[in-house]
Amino acid sequence: MISRDFLSVANNLGDSVAFNLESDTMKEPEIIGVGRLVKRHGVPEAEFAIEISDRFQRQGLGTRLLQLLVDIGRQEGLQRIFGLILPENFNMLQIAKKVGFTLTFDRPETVMRAELKLW
Ligand SMILES: CC(C)(COP(=O)(O)OP(=O)(O)OC[C@H]1O[C@@H](n2cnc3c(N)ncnc32)[C@H](O)[C@@H]1OP(=O)(O)O)[C@@H](O)C(=O)NCCC(=O)NCCS
Repeated sequence: MISRDFLSVANNLGDSVAFNLESDTMKEPEIIGVGRLVKRHGVPEAEFAIEISDRFQRQGLGTRLLQLLVDIGRQEGLQRIFGLILPENFNMLQIAKKVGFTLTFDRPETVMRAELKLW
């Protein structure tokens, strides 16, 4: 179980920011999730991606990680963030909706596009 906040900034990669979720209850720190925002050149928007280890899914971590990326996007002055999600990825679609993203079907790419205006 995860007992307290466990976020650490892993990298600051110029146009992208990546976070690792680390559990603090194990003997050795273990990365249990990763979130990333990649800014697009020339436009005030970034694409998000998140992943939580199988063992730690369904505890609310994915939701918190996405919310964190939204907060960072806002602090960075981005106008919107978006993610491309497979239509069958029900959990991710639910999370995006819960955090406030609007979902539309991108027909050419046959994926769902989740978008949130920040400003
Ligand atoms: C998608 C992913 C990040 C979700 O992470 P997570 O930590 O499990 O997500 P959360 O625990 O915050 O909750 C997910 C939501 O999924 C749904 N969910 C959770 N458990 C569920 C269950 N047993 N049955 C159905 N839906 C469930 C719920 O909507 C839940 O929200 P709720 O708790 O408010 O009801 C994770 O499954 C993952 O890493 N998948 C592989 C990578 C991926 O698809 N990334 C997305 C591309 S951007």
